[in-house]
Amino acid sequence: MTRRLQALSVLALFAGMLLPDAGCADPLDAAVGKALFDRQWIPAPSSTNGTDGLGPLFASRSCTGCHARADGAHVVVRDDGKPDIAGAVVRFGTADGTTDSYYGLELQTNAIPGLKPEGSARFLPHLSYNLNGPPLGEGVHAGVRLAPQLFGKAKFDDVPDEEIVKRAAANAKSGGPVKGRANVTPHGIGRYGWKAAHVSIDEQIARAFAFDIGLSSPLFPLPYGDCTTAETACLSAPNGESPAFEGRELSSPMIGVVASYLKSLRARPVTEALALFTSTGCAACHVPALTARDGRQIPAFTDLLLHDMGPGLDDHVGEPGVKSFEWRTAPLINGRLRPEDRRYLHDGSAATVEDAIERHGGEAEHSRNLFEALKVDDKKRLVDYVNGL
Ligand code: HEC
Ligand code: HEC
Repeated sequence: MTRRLQALSVLALFAGMLLPDAGCADPLDAAVGKALFDRQWIPAPSSTNGTDGLGPLFASRSCTGCHARADGAHVVVRDDGKPDIAGAVVRFGTADGTTDSYYGLELQTNAIPGLKPEGSARFLPHLSYNLNGPPLGEGVHAGVRLAPQLFGKAKFDDVPDEEIVKRAAANAKSGGPVKGRANVTPHGIGRYGWKAAHVSIDEQIARAFAFDIGLSSPLFPLPYGDCTTAETACLSAPNGESPAFEGRELSSPMIGVVASYLKSLRARPVTEALALFTSTGCAACHVPALTARDGRQIPAFTDLLLHDMGPGLDDHVGEPGVKSFEWRTAPLINGRLRPEDRRYLHDGSAATVEDAIERHGGEAEHSRNLFEALKVDDKKRLVDYVNGL
């Protein structure tokens, strides 16, 4: 299907009407995609075609529930007057990446009427959670994952595999402390997520719909989302599968328009990196720009490689093929949040850029030491630079 037809077919389903076949390609896709991103999904069955299928268990009703205005997790004040992080999830897994046999991949903190959520969680000052079912399985740990901001991210689709693997090869050859490696998954080289586990933006979006909101699509045909076979009440709830959506709760064009929306969210253009950023070793991992297939420079501030970040950032929750202490270099692309509303690192354990650097260990220990040895003024210049990216 052409792009224009994609948007039109999705729009027509929602508006219940057919639109004129006028010249309107990407901006229309992005606008329809944004509507799906902001949509508050409701449980099936519902009379409005294409808005149901939520859950049965879910972490949020919408993408924007965690990525508010396409940004990432941020600090909020809860009803009890205490600060917490909105847009974070509790991820379950063993060190080798097996998920929990009862709770599955992540803690589903909400449920459709008639079902109980799996539990609840607070993220500040550190993770605390309770479970409404049995304790976690043997060897299963709980880890925090913040929703990253989404500006500039969909562009990583345009980075060819060679651009990623060549840096891993250069790291290995240099014999230095930085030894990144690509996450080679059964579907290709990973680019998205804290562990670079997802290959394409479509895969990442379909996965978010399935596991965070409970909506199936051709890529993740799971109408029950993250429910496990042990969660029988969840499995017997109605689902929103429909022939209008390729037999799923969402069709591929619907995923496609959300991808168009994310592609419309641009990062700030890259200018020459601050010399201090390079001389303290940050740029060895946080590579300012990657070269796209068409030769263009994409703002990145990541090498899209996994690095051993040491025991301080090891939460004992691995993913298939990725160790619990390995993380994708976080792309230092800021969204629109003010620095005081942000939290840093996969678990939000850092309140400032300085805190985040202090927690760099393993392959980044050398760079952290260089940062710590800087004069106060230079530290401030470097931090201001990172905050302004
Ligand atoms: C319950 C909260 C939550 C919801 C709802 C949610 N996300 Fe996310 N999102 C996350 C978290 C947490 C991560 C990081 C996951 C990981 O790496 O383990 C993430 C990662 C992503 C990424 C990868 C970003 C990067 O830096 O690689 C994209 C893209 C994304 N989400 C898009 C979406 C879209 C589109 C939706 C709606 C379909 C959505 N998310 C719904 C929490 C959420
Ligand atoms: C060996 C590779 C490596 C080096 C060198 C390195 N980083 Fe990082 N950086 C990472 C990884 C990997 C993460 C994600 C870690 C996590 O979330 O647990 C990260 C996370 C960050 C974050 C948090 C970003 C976010 O979105 O939460 C900041 C800020 C940061 N680094 C700044 C720096 C600065 C400044 C330097 C230089 C002084 C530096 N880093 C050096 C790999 C590196």
